[in-house]
Amino acid sequence: MSESVRRVFVVGLGEVGRRLAGALTASGTDVAPVTRQGGWEHLSGDREAPVLVCVREEALSDTVSRLRNVAAERLVFVQNGWIRPLLGGVQGCSRGLIWFTSKGEFFRVLRASVFSGPAAPAVADALKRGGIAAAAIGTEAFAGAEAEKMGFNCVVGLPLAVHALSLGEYLDRNAAEAEAVFSEAAGVTARALGVTPSNDWWPEFLRVAKPLGWVRSAAPKALEFRNGAVARLARERGERTPANERLLKAVGFEI
Ligand SMILES: NC(=O)c1ccc[n+]([C@@H]2O[C@H](COP(=O)([O-])OP(=O)(O)OC[C@H]3O[C@@H](n4cnc5c(N)ncnc54)[C@H](OP(=O)(O)O)[C@@H]3O)[C@@H](O)[C@H]2O)c1
Repeated sequence: MSESVRRVFVVGLGEVGRRLAGALTASGTDVAPVTRQGGWEHLSGDREAPVLVCVREEALSDTVSRLRNVAAERLVFVQNGWIRPLLGGVQGCSRGLIWFTSKGEFFRVLRASVFSGPAAPAVADALKRGGIAAAAIGTEAFAGAEAEKMGFNCVVGLPLAVHALSLGEYLDRNAAEAEAVFSEAAGVTARALGVTPSNDWWPEFLRVAKPLGWVRSAAPKALEFRNGAVARLARERGERTPANERLLKAVGFEI
């Protein structure tokens, strides 16, 4: 795929999709929206344009099957969580890990979002030109980044719902549990992907979480892709994830 793109399809114009679309437009890239209402019919009319898939993890399975006729090298999946099993049939696609937070009016770039795969250089370049920090990285670096992000997503979600606390309150009052949840999640994911967990990930989490102290989670989301996936992966691998399992039990999630 060429290092620059003229056009990008964006599937799912929610929080992430609309921010990525905004940056792409600002970079001078033509954005073709694909929503529940329409846009799917244009995907096959352009055989080059990357397709940024920005639906939630829960909608991914249906979306992947709807995209089965689009060449894998055009597809870029940006979901959080353990989505590798769902992407098993999409060999040769690209992935992204989004390191900004968008919730309504709130928008904060926490650090550079990273992309890996054939469409990564062109997409990262366009986003950067459009004002969202982004970088293309290799497969192994991406695996490490994925494990680190799993740590982030297992803390910024389920524990906040269980304890009914904001992220700032949780990190102040339950620091040991937060670190255990993070380390289990990042560690299991890293080892499953054949990378070594880094001691830098937790302090870096505390740094990027600072502007997100107000974040709350009324109901835990996508557990089968986050804490639940971590606990299941650990079980398959003969590892233990007691901090995550206690929280999952509190919401009645069956591992
Ligand atoms: N928000 C963030 O700050 C952030 C940061 C990093 C990563 N992420 C990750 O990015 C992913 C997306 O999150 P989000 O916050 O952007 O979620 P979101 O705001 O709910 O957006 C998802 C979008 O996908 C659309 N969608 C769902 N099914 C669809 C379908 N069949 N066809 C077309 N569009 C469809 C939804 O449309 P409807 O509104 O019609 O349902 C919605 O516009 C998640 O994996 C999330 O964890 C989010």
